[in-house]
Amino acid sequence: MTLSAHGLSVVRAGQAILYPTSVCVSPRDRIGLVGASGSGKSTLGHALVDDLRMQGHVVAYVPQSPDEALDPLWSMAFHWREAEKALGLRPGAADRKTLFSALKIEGGDLRKRPWAWSRGMQQRFVIAMALMGRPNLVVLDEPTSALDPVVAAATMQLLDHCLRESDTAMILITHDLGLAARHVSQLMVMDGGRIVEQASTEDVLEHPKAPASKALSAHRNWLALPC
Ligand SMILES: Nc1ncnc2c1ncn2[C@@H]1O[C@H](COP(=O)(O)OP(=O)(O)OP(=O)(O)O)[C@@H](O)[C@H]1O
Ligand SMILES: [Mg+2]
Repeated sequence: MTLSAHGLSVVRAGQAILYPTSVCVSPRDRIGLVGASGSGKSTLGHALVDDLRMQGHVVAYVPQSPDEALDPLWSMAFHWREAEKALGLRPGAADRKTLFSALKIEGGDLRKRPWAWSRGMQQRFVIAMALMGRPNLVVLDEPTSALDPVVAAATMQLLDHCLRESDTAMILITHDLGLAARHVSQLMVMDGGRIVEQASTEDVLEHPKAPASKALSAHRNWLALPC
């Protein structure tokens, strides 16, 4: 089923920070939402998640840092149970074993609090929580920018692998065109609260049209970085 949200807009302190924007996402889509800092990527991501959830779709969101999703006072087991509860699942109903093994965190001790897990493991745990409800769409907002490049690259590969088996669509929010190029087939480029270009990843990289796309693809040397 195609998910669509129309006329998303956001005004803060009397200023438009997202101009009316429509987004359509089909099952298995891999879309990158890219743009300079402050262009409105997170604003659009949040507005889209809220709108689609209000329509009754299952939409998961992964924030930039695991700190935003995990409370240092609670064990990982507690977080897992709470996520199941929020999805209306009975305790233990989510296929934790398969997700943990796919994301290579099966060695993590669930009795421990987040700080006993490495940052990379914490973020993969957050991704596992996001995927437990078999969402129609997962929106990841700079999911690896708090990780070192090697762990970041491995995390993205594991995520790709997890999604390969499902119909879940992905929107990857990032300002890193190199990261996007490796993991998405379409790009939406944002500038000043608007989507200024939407095309295949290859087209945006090879033949950028909007000034914001040109500025981003001018940094094509980023593609040489490990992530
Ligand atoms: N609550 C708010 N009140 C006022 N302005 C806001 C608010 N939230 C965001 N903005 C402004 O809206 C614009 C878009 O912000 P947003 O966080 O969506 O950008 P972004 O593309 O995600 O940036 P980054 O890459 O740095 O995460 C920015 O200019 C920001 O200052
Ligand atoms: Mg942002």
